Amino acid sequence: MNYDYLVVGAGLFGSTFAYEAAKRGKRIKVIDKRNHIGGNIYTENIEGINVHKYGAHIFHTNNKEIWDYVNQFAEFNRYTNSPIANYKGEVYNLPFNMNTFNKLWGVLTPDEAIAKITEQKEHAHVDTPQNLEEQAISLVGTDIYKKLIKGYTEKQWGRKATELPAFIIKRLPVRFTYDNNYFNDRYQGIPIGGYTQIIKKMLSNDLIDVELGTDFFLKKEEYMRTFPKIIYTGMIDQFFDYKLGTLEYRSLKFETSVLDVENYQGNAVVNYTDSETPFTRIIEHKHFEFGKQPKTVVTREYPANWEKGDEPYYPMNDQKNNELFKKYSELAEGLDNIIFGGRLGNYKYYDMHQVIGAAWSLIAKEFK
Ligand code: FDA
Repeated sequence: MNYDYLVVGAGLFGSTFAYEAAKRGKRIKVIDKRNHIGGNIYTENIEGINVHKYGAHIFHTNNKEIWDYVNQFAEFNRYTNSPIANYKGEVYNLPFNMNTFNKLWGVLTPDEAIAKITEQKEHAHVDTPQNLEEQAISLVGTDIYKKLIKGYTEKQWGRKATELPAFIIKRLPVRFTYDNNYFNDRYQGIPIGGYTQIIKKMLSNDLIDVELGTDFFLKKEEYMRTFPKIIYTGMIDQFFDYKLGTLEYRSLKFETSVLDVENYQGNAVVNYTDSETPFTRIIEHKHFEFGKQPKTVVTREYPANWEKGDEPYYPMNDQKNNELFKKYSELAEGLDNIIFGGRLGNYKYYDMHQVIGAAWSLIAKEFK
């Protein structure tokens, strides 16, 4: 078959692009080095439970068009993300809200909570936050910082909070209401039956061929010669053989087990916010879909340093890496037939709704 596009990566970006391009009559080949479709939103059924294989995925957006779009591929439930923090056996609600403040200090009203935080901020003398620690204290005071932010964040990033940039937590959700909903977005939910069905439907057009277990780099020259256009959603620095240097990522290790109990922790997401516990959170997957199966599946999430060959989960968007990425983007602009997209191609932490938006923008540009 003569293809119009090669799409490298069967994740949400590549699959949205392929779906939209096929709707416009284009022929597409999609390859992925993994042996399944879906990229990081892949869900796998274990014991009748849809397991989020690459970490908890909750769809949320303010954009009605994007919400309606994903709802054509799956029915979404009413799941609301309300994580719990476990600090040395003390349990708190997240995001930081009146329930958290009440448990910590016994305060009952927003004014009392604001007064407590203000008192702690003033005591700490933080005027212009220079790092994550100062930023956190300036937002929520020292108690919350010490119990709920410090250990978790240092584990997550593998660096001291005083060495991390303030911007990482610029948008910490802090609320002076008794509302445990993590997201402020208008629409939120989990696809009933898991995320993989969405990607499967996106790739089901007869004009799309999917080849799994296929690494682009094994035949890079041939692909570049034979496809008129390539949409590449892998790591941009790898594409250029790291010739300007290596972009940094944080990685994760997942440890998943099936337990012979119906309900292990009573919530989908429990964060462990002390520094001694080596993992950052435990996910109990059945609660994403209010499951009643006799067994349960839990995953411990361990943050890890990233080295070449590991899964690159989170781009390290600090100044040094952003500058390097900019240089790679300039190289990319010089190539006519390759378009870089998705979270690895754009070296950007995209949520799912942003990935769909970015794929739509590319479609609009390609088919204008
Ligand atoms: P993605 O990484 O999914 O796909 C890229 C694909 O390219 C992969 O399948 C990869 O195997 C393939 N590939 C790479 N190099 C290749 C090569 N050389 N040859 C062939 N194939 C290659 N978002 C959200 O909205 N709510 C949430 O709750 C979460 N939670 C969350 C938790 C964790 C732990 C992470 C890491 C991320 C999230 N996200 C999220 C973000 C979400 O995962 C993200 O927005 C999308 O999966 C990104 O889709 P992409 O297609 O861009 O990348």
